[in-house]
Amino acid sequence: MIKKTKSLIAKQSKAPLFDVLMAHAKRDVVSFHCPGHKNGRSIDAELKNYIGENAFKFDVTVFDEVDSLHDPVGPIKKAQELMAEAYGVEHSLFLVNGTSVGNIAMFLSACDPGDSIIVSRSSHKSIMAGIIMAGLWPIWIQPKIDQNLDLIFNSTYDQIKDALDKYPEAKAVFVTTPTYNGVVTEISKIADLCHRRGKILLADEAHGPHLLFNSQLPESSVEAGADLCVQSTHKILSAFSQSSVLHFNSKLVDFNRVKKIVSMLQTTSPNYLSLATTDLARRQVFLNGEETFNKVLEAARWGRTYINANIANMKCFTREEMKKLGFDLDETKLTVNVTKTGLSGYEIESILAKEYNIQLDYADIFNLVAIMGEGSNRADTEALVDALKDICKKYKGEQKNQLLKIPSLATEMVMLPREVFLSSNTKKIPLAKAVGHVAAQTLTPYPPGIPVLIPGERITEEICDYLINMSSKDIRISGQESEMLKTIKVFTN
Ligand SMILES: Cc1ncc(COP(=O)(O)O)c(C=O)c1O
Repeated sequence: MIKKTKSLIAKQSKAPLFDVLMAHAKRDVVSFHCPGHKNGRSIDAELKNYIGENAFKFDVTVFDEVDSLHDPVGPIKKAQELMAEAYGVEHSLFLVNGTSVGNIAMFLSACDPGDSIIVSRSSHKSIMAGIIMAGLWPIWIQPKIDQNLDLIFNSTYDQIKDALDKYPEAKAVFVTTPTYNGVVTEISKIADLCHRRGKILLADEAHGPHLLFNSQLPESSVEAGADLCVQSTHKILSAFSQSSVLHFNSKLVDFNRVKKIVSMLQTTSPNYLSLATTDLARRQVFLNGEETFNKVLEAARWGRTYINANIANMKCFTREEMKKLGFDLDETKLTVNVTKTGLSGYEIESILAKEYNIQLDYADIFNLVAIMGEGSNRADTEALVDALKDICKKYKGEQKNQLLKIPSLATEMVMLPREVFLSSNTKKIPLAKAVGHVAAQTLTPYPPGIPVLIPGERITEEICDYLINMSSKDIRISGQESEMLKTIKVFTN
């Protein structure tokens, strides 16, 4: 936790970018700059009627007063410096294309083409983009699965240590913590291990921008010492969607390279409302994170306890259970296991939306994931719990006894994913004849949402059988190029 001295609180009470934009908006400046709506004047009438014009007055372009995201010298620079100070890192860079772009930037910044990187196969899809764009050899960690909880875990210390022992040439380690389900791995131990061995630690903390600011929440990667860490300011805090931050705290990575790469990947027309809300989100969480997240935690704990005690067919795993398994839990994320209802998570998610006006963030066959954030409260949690109770009374499904499983992903990485992905030496062949070929596409069945093949990998019999089996069922396979997965794209030399 950051120590909040009086002078730090005084500094952090400022929001320099927001202040400048607000002053600009209030002056009703005659606009001969992009965007074309001219301070909201020409916005569609129906939309304007509902949300008014004011928000559009923040939607400006790059000029001296509001500063440039690509070469900041004014309020954006100050806002980024305050962000870095709040999180206790050397530098912070604002992102306007989410943590997705931050993950890609981390791969491109930390590694040179041809380097290898240790990474869990259960990572977000943006890391495949990072591997391809940066021209890296991935060293995959096969994620552990808990079939009682129907849960996929992030990489553990032991898994990373084993990978580093086996592949000492790896340049960096990439970890996701917390996961979508709020599960936090042993990030301090992992950071120490990486740094003892001179390896760069990259952390996807998309779901954890609040962790540092509440003493009851698990440890954050920035505090643990990750070299680079990306957080989705929009996911849990109150910034607009797409607003994320890349934190830099490293002796192993060149910050100038990070800045250049981030600049290459971002639009030259960033949304200033998004940037202003990032500035404000930092101020809010720094000043009020303890109090705000105490309330969110109280509501989440009430919901979890209520579901576990009163809804027989549903279960939320607890922080104590996670600790026994060697992890920690951000309790503000409620994962509700629904397998005993006989209904799938997808079905319940849809009933919640259509009949109860409640929208969840995520569902799969086994679980619902209710993500709570800065704006969540007890009343919302009660509405969700009441709806779940009602659904259990009204709907009865048939027990399906499905198991969450993935095939062994231990296959040979024959070629660089980048080389195959960008090559036109590919052809489609029947899936049934694919064993032994080199895959030229990424295939990800949902669930569990883990790629079973990526470009450059040798197609094994086990993976081929698994895909044939999946495609015969009603399972969505992301990456397939036709309705049914009958053929597969492979590399031809
Ligand atoms: C673990 C993880 N990393 C990265 C991302 C991408 O974040 P963003 O939506 O901010 O681009 C997500 C999105 O859900 C995520 O769950």
